[in-house]
Amino acid sequence: MSGRIPREFIDELLVRVDIVDLIDSHVPLKKTGNNFVARCPFHVEKTPSFSVNRKKQFFHCFGCEASGNAISFLMDFSHLDFIEAVEDLAGFVGVEVPRVSTEYQPAQKKEDLNSLYLLMEQVAVFYAEQLRTSDAGKKAVEYLKNRGVSGDCANSFMIGYAPDEWKALETRFNPKLLLEAGLLVSNEEGRAYDRFRGRIMFPIRDKRARIVGFGGRVLDDSLPKYLNSPETPLFHKGKEVYGLYELLEKNAKPQRILIVEGYMDVIALAQCGINYAVAALGTAASQAHLDLLFRFSSELVFCFDGDKAGRAAAWRAMEPAFSSLKDGRQIRVMLLPQQHDPDSLVREEGVDGFIDRVQASETLSEYFFGHFSNELNLSEMEGRAQLVIKAKPYLEKLPDSVFKEMMFDRLKELSGLGRLDILDNTATLASKQNVKQVGKRSQDNSRLSSARMAVALLVQNPRLAELLDQRELDWSELGFPGVALFKSILSMIADNNSANTAVLVECYRGAAEEKSIKALALLDLPVPDAGIEAEFFDALDRLIIQDQEAVLARLLNKGKLDAEEKDLLRKTLAAKSLVQKNRNL
Ligand code: UTP
Ligand code: MN
Repeated sequence: MSGRIPREFIDELLVRVDIVDLIDSHVPLKKTGNNFVARCPFHVEKTPSFSVNRKKQFFHCFGCEASGNAISFLMDFSHLDFIEAVEDLAGFVGVEVPRVSTEYQPAQKKEDLNSLYLLMEQVAVFYAEQLRTSDAGKKAVEYLKNRGVSGDCANSFMIGYAPDEWKALETRFNPKLLLEAGLLVSNEEGRAYDRFRGRIMFPIRDKRARIVGFGGRVLDDSLPKYLNSPETPLFHKGKEVYGLYELLEKNAKPQRILIVEGYMDVIALAQCGINYAVAALGTAASQAHLDLLFRFSSELVFCFDGDKAGRAAAWRAMEPAFSSLKDGRQIRVMLLPQQHDPDSLVREEGVDGFIDRVQASETLSEYFFGHFSNELNLSEMEGRAQLVIKAKPYLEKLPDSVFKEMMFDRLKELSGLGRLDILDNTATLASKQNVKQVGKRSQDNSRLSSARMAVALLVQNPRLAELLDQRELDWSELGFPGVALFKSILSMIADNNSANTAVLVECYRGAAEEKSIKALALLDLPVPDAGIEAEFFDALDRLIIQDQEAVLARLLNKGKLDAEEKDLLRKTLAAKSLVQKNRNL
């Protein structure tokens, strides 16, 4: 799995795949004119505004403005990261993803990781055996039974018991690997001993079933109550959640996922059949956690204990929550009654009661604005000013979306600042204006400036670059607006041999120009296929003539010219008449 995917492979994949087939296999498409349309999978709508263009290999929704190539579609539709989307796409096309090993990941490293995974598995099996067979393990079973955990449930979470000994592991497994896996601790004199002793053990599995770490709980009131694996080459607390593998085993696409605080909460809920809960591992849920979970479900419910610490934790979760909320994703916040965690609550109120609470939990917007209404006095101007100051930074974190607009609208309403620009959500407004202009321009060809026409035609037909080569233009003489972008696109096409728009746009993924290039890709140009070349060169000629005319005007206005300027005047006049002669042919 490790190693870089070669750029050329990604480009080739985008040429091989037909985005119409790909999307049609997820969202059935209907042909209308040059495009294929459907109701948009990224927002709720009654009439189709989602369209897929075969020539550009690009999709676009006029409703929610989602757009992109086949890779972007899979990332958004199947909640994949970039690499996963490329892998998925390769699967669709039926080819293997090649990997280039990079200097930073020597082949040996992968083997090391494999032996660590193997060790973790063996240790988990050993702990599970100890739970079932050792005398001390029986006490642990007793403890679990008292907390309502059945044998089946313990098995499915692979719960175990670490014997209360200093060297239970060291005598059975490779000490060097144990140390690396965080299962041994070495003291100041360099002597190593088992990290987990006399504890109930919870293996933490990643989504691919590999054990990456452990949590261990004491059987009594001694401290610390829980010990967790330290950061190791396998285990990164900020990235893993407890219970995800077990959840996916039961349901690969759950309607919602609950995020609770503790190991025992996940287990108690699963024991009652609520097997769609996970726990962040003693840390606050990070954006990486949320992005991971959103790949499997579009609704996340944060469950926080009702105490002060739980409420504070709920508020701290807002930051990653806002950053992760793309359209189509939803977050709810459920604050439990005082003195309760999900484990105790589900026991007291039963499964139905608990599920009722989940369903009645606050939406993120209710919770967010409710928090301020409790904290600030919104009947006073000062309170409303504070509201704007405190809430706005959160709203700005939201990715551009319908939801973002609505949140800003709500803030305007609550603050009474409705007509003031201070609240204008500049990013979205700008992009809306763009869309409006694009629409207007496409109806009115003459208003689409030559520069825009030329650069958009190039983005939509990268093969034009080759024809342009044959014209031997003197680029240093050209100064029309957008010439820098034009040149950047030309060299991108040359460097990557971009065969179509999707490949070209892919080259700009993450770059500063990405937005502009995408917008150009989406422009609806009123040019028939047969007229593309002529229109392109016509637009270029017009640009060249405009440049030449600007030079001439400058020189002629000057009156007395020096020798160099006279030379430039002669050259420009000659070049201009040449261009015009060509145009009249
Ligand atoms: P809790 O104390 O709420 O856990 O801590 P819990 O699961 O409800 O515990 P019990 O078994 O019912 O009493 C929540 C989480 O915080 C981390 C653990 O991940 C725990 O599940 N934690 C807590 C620690 O890492 N160390 C600790 O000492 C306590
Ligand atoms: Mn608890």
